[in-house]
Amino acid sequence: MKNTVMTFKEAKTKGEKLTMLTAYDYSMAKLIDESEINGILVGDSLGMVCLGYEDTLSVTMEDMIHHTKAVARGAKNALIVGDMPFMSYQTSIYDAVCNAGRLIKEGNANAVKLEGGAAVVEQVRAIVKASIPVMGHLGLTPQSVNAFGGFKVQGKSEDAARKLIEEAQILEEAGAFAIVLECVPAKLAELITRKVSIPTIGIGAGKGCDGQILVYQDMLGMFSDFKPKFVKQFSDVGHHMREGFKQYIEEVKAGSFPSKEHEFKINEEVLEKLY
Ligand code: KIV
Repeated sequence: MKNTVMTFKEAKTKGEKLTMLTAYDYSMAKLIDESEINGILVGDSLGMVCLGYEDTLSVTMEDMIHHTKAVARGAKNALIVGDMPFMSYQTSIYDAVCNAGRLIKEGNANAVKLEGGAAVVEQVRAIVKASIPVMGHLGLTPQSVNAFGGFKVQGKSEDAARKLIEEAQILEEAGAFAIVLECVPAKLAELITRKVSIPTIGIGAGKGCDGQILVYQDMLGMFSDFKPKFVKQFSDVGHHMREGFKQYIEEVKAGSFPSKEHEFKINEEVLEKLY
C-alpha cells in the first residue's frame, strides 16, 4: 500500500514508529521499497555520498530532479520526499514554490523537505498552500554548515534548546507534515516530539522520535569518508562489494570469466564462411 502523509499522521496517533532511508537511484529505491519502508528521502546528501562533494552546498535543482525521478520510478509504495537544495528556497517565497513544484511535477516526488524554522516559515506556508506536503528539518541543518562553523550537535544550551522547540512549533503551525531532527540531544528530541502533533523523524536524535532516517550508504558500510557517531552499520555491503570487484578482476585476468554459460552462439556454417 502506498504510504502518504496520512500514513505518517496515523503512525504518530497510534504510536507506531516510522522508518525512512535515503535513496538516489532506481535500483536502490526498488530494493528499499521492497523492504516495506514508510518513506524514501532523495536527500541532498547526494552531493556527498554520490557526487563526492565535501558538503551539500553545490547540489542543484537539476541534480535533485534527475535523482528524484529515478527513485520515483523504483519506489512504488514508499512516500517519496525530494530535498530542496541550497538556495532553491532561501532566496524568495516565489522561488520556493516554483522549485517545490518542480520536484513534484518533474521529479515525481510526493513531498518536499527544506531546512530551517522561523527563517523559512513563509516559504513553508506558501508551499503547503500550493498543496505540496512539506517536511521540515531542524537541528544540524547541513546547508548551514558555514554558519554553524562545522557539523555540530545543536540545541545543547538552554537558549538553543528553547529555540529548537519554538521552531518545531512554528513549522507545525505553518503546515509541515513531519520534521527531521538531526544531531539533537536525545532528551530534547523526545521533548520536541511530545510538544508537536506531527511526527518527528530522528537522525542522531535518539529513540524518542516518532521515526528514524539514515543515509543508506552509512548504514550499509558503503561510505568510508567519515562515520558520524549516530550511524549504526547494519550490514557490511562495502566489504562484499570490494570482495566481488576483486574476484571479478582475478577471474578476468585468469581467463575463467566469461565462461561458456555467459557466451552467445553463432552457427558454425556462418562462422566457416568468415575464415
Ligand atoms: O540529505 C539528507 O540525506 C538528509 C538526511 C540526513 C535527513 O537531509
